[in-house]
Amino acid sequence: MDNRPIGIFDSGVGGLTVAKEIIKTLPNENIVYFGDTARVPYGAKSKDVVTKYSKQIVRFLLTKNVKAIIVACNTVSSNSLDALRRTFDIPFIGVVEPGVKSVLETTKNKRVGIIGTEATIRSGMYGRLIHDADSTIEVFSKPCPLFVPLAEEGWYDNDVARMTAELYLDELISCGIDTLLLGCTHYPLLKHCIGETIGEAVKIVDPAKNTAEALRIILEKNNMLNDGSEKPTNIFYVSDITDKFEKICLKTLKKTYTPAKIDIEKY
Ligand code: DGL
Repeated sequence: MDNRPIGIFDSGVGGLTVAKEIIKTLPNENIVYFGDTARVPYGAKSKDVVTKYSKQIVRFLLTKNVKAIIVACNTVSSNSLDALRRTFDIPFIGVVEPGVKSVLETTKNKRVGIIGTEATIRSGMYGRLIHDADSTIEVFSKPCPLFVPLAEEGWYDNDVARMTAELYLDELISCGIDTLLLGCTHYPLLKHCIGETIGEAVKIVDPAKNTAEALRIILEKNNMLNDGSEKPTNIFYVSDITDKFEKICLKTLKKTYTPAKIDIEKY
């Protein structure tokens, strides 16, 4: 048994959609969340910069004595996870492999759409891992960068969100996909709008559940689960204070949390 907290991080509020599933799947665990609200978005940045930022975040989380780290960001998971694993001696769980598992479990016609940030799509990681598992699956990828500021702004389902979704998704609709993977942890906040646009025939897949399950398996296997002897705590840190973070916390986790601001550049 190990009662140290789980570290979770993202460029901003997107990782809260993963935190929600982790709290649901592992309700005894303590959580320390970091959202890089001062430097979001990561999706338009280079691999080197994303790796540098994520190493700083990991160093910060290690000061909180975390026992495992969830990389609740597809951009980091697809560009920097190998570098993190090489640098730090702690279990990391990214969102890409769990996302691939969800795709394989869902598609019937083997035509799959992947949406994500520019950096995630550019990495080609989803396509590679899907083809490694099943080379007959056809993958159609589309970067949708504007979904990130829409999610950060709380514009989940207004005219601007709907028009943006139509412009991005039209091309995928014409590809005949039966599965659409939300390859960015911000996108589940716009799931309703994305679902209405893509149509009922396409199943929307969010890696969060399988990510939480992957964490559960690792903790169980290594006898690292929290023994549940104390009420769990959820603590939130950000690199810049925004009232939006609190609002999205409330929407996602159904509870008010006030994040503490830290200077991430110091790490
Ligand atoms: N939520 C992140 C992801 O899953 C990153 C969004 C961004 O910062 O561009 O990719």
